[in-house]
Amino acid sequence: MSKKRILSGNRPTGSLHLGHYFGALANWVSLQDDYDCFYFVADWHALTTEFENTGIIRPATLEMVMDWLAVGLDPDKSTIFVQSAVKEHAELYLLLGMLVSVARLERIPSYKGFQEETGRDVSNFGFLGYPLLQAADIMMYRAHGVPVGEDQVPHIEVTREFARRFNNLYLADGANLAEAMVNELRETTRWNHQANSNVAAAKLEEIKPGEGPAPDGLEIFPEPKALLTRTPKVPGLDGRKMSKSYGNSITLGEDPASIEQKIKTMITDPARKRRKDTGNPDVCPVYDLHKLYSDQETLMWAAEGCRTAGIGCLDCKGKLYPKINEHLAPIRDKREYYLLHPDLIVDVLQAGNAKARTFARETMALVRAAMKLE
Ligand code: TRP
Ligand code: SF4
Repeated sequence: MSKKRILSGNRPTGSLHLGHYFGALANWVSLQDDYDCFYFVADWHALTTEFENTGIIRPATLEMVMDWLAVGLDPDKSTIFVQSAVKEHAELYLLLGMLVSVARLERIPSYKGFQEETGRDVSNFGFLGYPLLQAADIMMYRAHGVPVGEDQVPHIEVTREFARRFNNLYLADGANLAEAMVNELRETTRWNHQANSNVAAAKLEEIKPGEGPAPDGLEIFPEPKALLTRTPKVPGLDGRKMSKSYGNSITLGEDPASIEQKIKTMITDPARKRRKDTGNPDVCPVYDLHKLYSDQETLMWAAEGCRTAGIGCLDCKGKLYPKINEHLAPIRDKREYYLLHPDLIVDVLQAGNAKARTFARETMALVRAAMKLE
């Protein structure tokens, strides 16, 4: 039995922080054993906003991949690659462009949202096409599941529409499918055409036109599901969501002294101004971090001590930063190792790019055959 496939990606943002870890990476790491995972750097997606600034993309890519490896993404289990190294993404993007209306793309919430949030000029055509490129990323690996945050769900929804549309348009009659399969097999095995035609014919028997969607494994594109990451709250030092652009992060490479310093100055329940004031852990961002790191007993100690003013905020924080340090120490060590051996990151990407390309070529052979393009 082959495993179901998972794909996810991130624009290259450089070094990562605890928000990335709890929001996505921990989940990516845990999926590696049960799924065939593809994780990639969406460097072409970064161009939508960084087209005047392209020099930052490559170093940010290497730094982000270093952090992926440091937290435990394992190139022996997962395919780790860079979008721009697999040109097939651009080809599929072009083909999908014919299957969607401009109005549909304009309705996607992130299109309007991004512009309003960042005030950046995203009036370029590429930005409108952003979800289309994302759909191409997902469909290229015929992914069944896409672990993402809530904000990405509309993009997965369009991808499902594309998959359905493509399968219906180009695979509705079994003949196309047979052709596609023969061509794919020819492509991958190079020869023995006659034998392969028989395989395709046998499969054709199984689907019988007119019986609804092709059974799993026979359609080209499965409809991918969004695997929503249970996003715990990861507040930054100022209490807002942890984000690089707010400058309120604890990075994965943060050293112990800096972790301690940052937590000591982190905002608490604003109503608790003095040691003798009682506080409310439910409105305190430090307590939100405790929930990610501390056991039940410590949580109760902190909540109780806070509400009764039995402990001070520094006592409370004193139980937190050693835990963060304990978590980040091995990650920091691995980062330092890769910083000394940057060639290893390049090697990982070269191997991953080659694996991704092989898969992508197969998908595109199927797609071209189904569309009668070759
Ligand atoms: N749009 C995603 C983000 O901004 C990045 C991304 C690009 C992605 N292609 C993808 C995520 C495919 C999942 C699957 O975070
Ligand atoms: Fe927050 Fe802890 Fe201070 Fe309460 S005691 S306000 S939970 S830091």
